[in-house]
Amino acid sequence: MVLRGPAATLAGNPFEQPSRGCLVTHDDALVVIEDGIITAFGPHAELRDTLPGGVDIVHYPDHLLVPGFIDAHVHYPQMQMIGAFGAQLLEWLETYTFPAEMSFADAGHAQRVAQLFLRELLRAGTTTAMVYCTVHPHSVDAFFTEAARFDARMIAGKVLMDRNAPLGLLDTAQRGYDESLALIDRWHGRGRALYCVTPRFAPTSTEAQLDAAGALLKTRDGLFLQTHLCENPGEVEWVRELFPARSSYLDVYAHAGLMGPRSMFGHGVHLHEGDFCTCHQSGAALAHCPTSNLFLGSGLFRLFEAVDPRRPVKVGLGTDVGGGTSLSQLQTLNEAYKVAALTGHKLDAVQGFYLATLGGARALGLEDRLGRLAPGMEADICVLDPKATPLMAFRAGYCASIEEMLFLLMTLGDDRAVRATYVAGRCVYDRERTGDPFVPVLPREE
Ligand code: GUN
Ligand code: ZN
Repeated sequence: MVLRGPAATLAGNPFEQPSRGCLVTHDDALVVIEDGIITAFGPHAELRDTLPGGVDIVHYPDHLLVPGFIDAHVHYPQMQMIGAFGAQLLEWLETYTFPAEMSFADAGHAQRVAQLFLRELLRAGTTTAMVYCTVHPHSVDAFFTEAARFDARMIAGKVLMDRNAPLGLLDTAQRGYDESLALIDRWHGRGRALYCVTPRFAPTSTEAQLDAAGALLKTRDGLFLQTHLCENPGEVEWVRELFPARSSYLDVYAHAGLMGPRSMFGHGVHLHEGDFCTCHQSGAALAHCPTSNLFLGSGLFRLFEAVDPRRPVKVGLGTDVGGGTSLSQLQTLNEAYKVAALTGHKLDAVQGFYLATLGGARALGLEDRLGRLAPGMEADICVLDPKATPLMAFRAGYCASIEEMLFLLMTLGDDRAVRATYVAGRCVYDRERTGDPFVPVLPREE
């Protein structure tokens, strides 16, 4: 299979080098795909004579081929309370989040929501996400089962909570360990599934449970860790009270052995210089979740401080639905631009697309297979439509360069600007398809 059309991909880190040199673009490119892997990428004029006769070419002349987006932090069980009015983090969790997650005691509900969630990700052009399930092990089964139907590279795990949450959402240190290990054995490395040990955040885990999470990480190669960190001032203060022996919020996690190159800490809005150094030294990454941090009034993430080349911290872009208000990485970049502006910086289009693609892959330690259009990469591709709405079509007429077009997409774009999504080389979503625009690659097992 071969895709043809204008294309853009990152080749370097625009937070460390001038942006212009980090972007590779072709006005008319070919992406050659075999067995789900990109085998060639370059100008049509150079590659067309290398193609075997009779090969299937799908042509998107008025679109833009980019790597599939990577969402570094999202909660699939929270779709039913996205956009809940009026509260900051801790009250929001009690009032809206925990009741929503309680409804996942019903495995049928988990399955229905997982189906909707996967489709909404693909509709937004997102092909990989790092996902929180609920405390219920079957919420993980529901998620990975649905992801497998699209052959999507997904990272997810069962939430661990053994205190400060409703009884119906609590496990224990031992039970959480045992259930997680069973899920790791069932899912980690099966197809494209990867398992993520998922203590929700320090206030809902005892020290014993955080230690158990650290022990889980050592049980198999390539496991991930995700949790929340320094999102909201009230939360930071609560952690100080709950863990008086620790020198900082991040030290709680470091003490439990949770820092490493596949660790992803959500938010990090209220971090200090020493915390950035700890993340840099351990290779741990932060998930920048601007729509959530604005919606919940949590604060402004200091992206340009985090990625300071003197001790760069890896940063991915997270939607954090349902604290976040959109599953679209384009809308998330729109808000990331404004957060940067409010902290005295300008996030250019190349930097924005880096966060949503190659930067996200690097933050997850998956840059050897995700995040770029290049030979050897898994063929997860988003086909963007820069003229998706009448306003975008009009504005596009005044764009003089591909960078300007990318900036238009990240400012005005959302799921309407995604024409099609390819996962492992197969078109699993096409906006223009009559009937159901989604085509799973595996039938549902009844
Ligand atoms: N901190 C602990 N749990 C959550 C959650 O579900 N969402 C967000 N945004 N922050 C959290
Ligand atoms: Zn979150």
